[in-house]
Amino acid sequence: MTHQLWGGRFATPPAEALDKLNRSLPVDHRLWQEDLRVAGAWVKALTQAGVLSSSEAEQLQGGLAKVASRLPALPLSDLPDEDIHTLVERLLYEEVGAVAGKLNTGRSRNDQVATDLRLWTMGALHAVDAEVVALGKALVAQAETGLDLILPGYTHMQRAQPVRWAYIMTAHAWPLTRDRDRLRDALRRTSEMPLGVAALAGSGIAVDRELLRKELGFERIAPNGLDTTGDRDFVAEALFALALMATHVSRLAGELVVYTSSEYGFVKLDDAWATGSSLLPQKKNPDVFELARAKAAVVLGDLVTLMGTLKGLPAGYSKDLQEDKAALFHAVDTILLVLPAVRGAIETMKPVPQRMAAALDPALFATDIADALVAQGVPFREAHGLTGKLVRAAEQAGVAIPDVNEAVARGIHEALPGILQALGTFADSVERRGTVGGSGKASVMAQSAELRTLLG
Ligand code: ARG
Repeated sequence: MTHQLWGGRFATPPAEALDKLNRSLPVDHRLWQEDLRVAGAWVKALTQAGVLSSSEAEQLQGGLAKVASRLPALPLSDLPDEDIHTLVERLLYEEVGAVAGKLNTGRSRNDQVATDLRLWTMGALHAVDAEVVALGKALVAQAETGLDLILPGYTHMQRAQPVRWAYIMTAHAWPLTRDRDRLRDALRRTSEMPLGVAALAGSGIAVDRELLRKELGFERIAPNGLDTTGDRDFVAEALFALALMATHVSRLAGELVVYTSSEYGFVKLDDAWATGSSLLPQKKNPDVFELARAKAAVVLGDLVTLMGTLKGLPAGYSKDLQEDKAALFHAVDTILLVLPAVRGAIETMKPVPQRMAAALDPALFATDIADALVAQGVPFREAHGLTGKLVRAAEQAGVAIPDVNEAVARGIHEALPGILQALGTFADSVERRGTVGGSGKASVMAQSAELRTLLG
């Protein structure tokens, strides 16, 4: 029989099927570094509280260091121990003998696991943040090199107005800056230390929780033991931040699936970032973006799993909470798979200026024409109607709007022939939208600069 943290009051060991269901080591072994860090801090607090002599503390710290050096080589998910906390205690016994039994004085796995997981989450959120930054920078780099590329901007997937490629790239970078904000916010609330409240009601040992806080680098101490041992809001918030981030990446990816199609052809994927078809030799597929799109559903599933788990629980620890880790680890792993792949594809993809230009049809000048009528004193609603008539006349004659017969145009409004002559290029049209936040060059350059700061 393997080491167990409980069992004195039981006549028989747990049934095999219960043991299998109950065992979380295959998932929570990933907390081993955090568990050892927390154990080290606990030894200090117990020593200060007079529970451990300094020689016992030394033995335990030495033992923990040996456990730390052994753990990476062990087949962690195959070991028989119930969870990472049990495994650490067993190994500590192997290293230092009976004094190992003093480590968990005044401490429960309830405050221990909540503390371990908060530490792990803080590390994970920093790692995700670094990847979001890298993806954001890849988008801004595309924006900067493609500053003067003009293509249709779409609403309802219909051509609407000409815009800069840089405007589209920055449009997808802004949501990532909000994701960073959410990560920071989640981090702030995650940085609250449960350790020292034991199972629910506070530790029977007068440990100095402030010492523990400093030792472990938390911002605050959790004010209520019953709350904090059952509080997984930080997991829910992290999962929401990841699910929304994955959704942003999914929308970007979905748009790029369309742009890489033969019909649009606005961008070409680098060969290293595209995949082939087993049957169709000519195919170059954007699997990277399609998978990124699907993974948003996977991460959302993790969020829903956790929220569903939490909603019926009373305050304090229930074993349901053990399932928090599988959801969180899965979501973090998934997003850390997606972000670098999408970034790589974006860093190396090439815009195709000819295809962008070919998609610019003169109907995209319609708003410019209405705006020019407004400049002549025509109320906008009326100008909208007159421009609509011009569009219809062009359609009927089978010509582009600027080529509508002069007399026909004059018949709609006397200023139209002059307006049509002065339309200029699509780039001129873009520059006419010079407001802050618009697709004009100055606005887009300012956006790139601000994004670089926010992603710095
Ligand atoms: N493996 C457990 C978890 O991850 C540790 C806490 C166990 N607590 C308890 N009261 N059985 O949630």
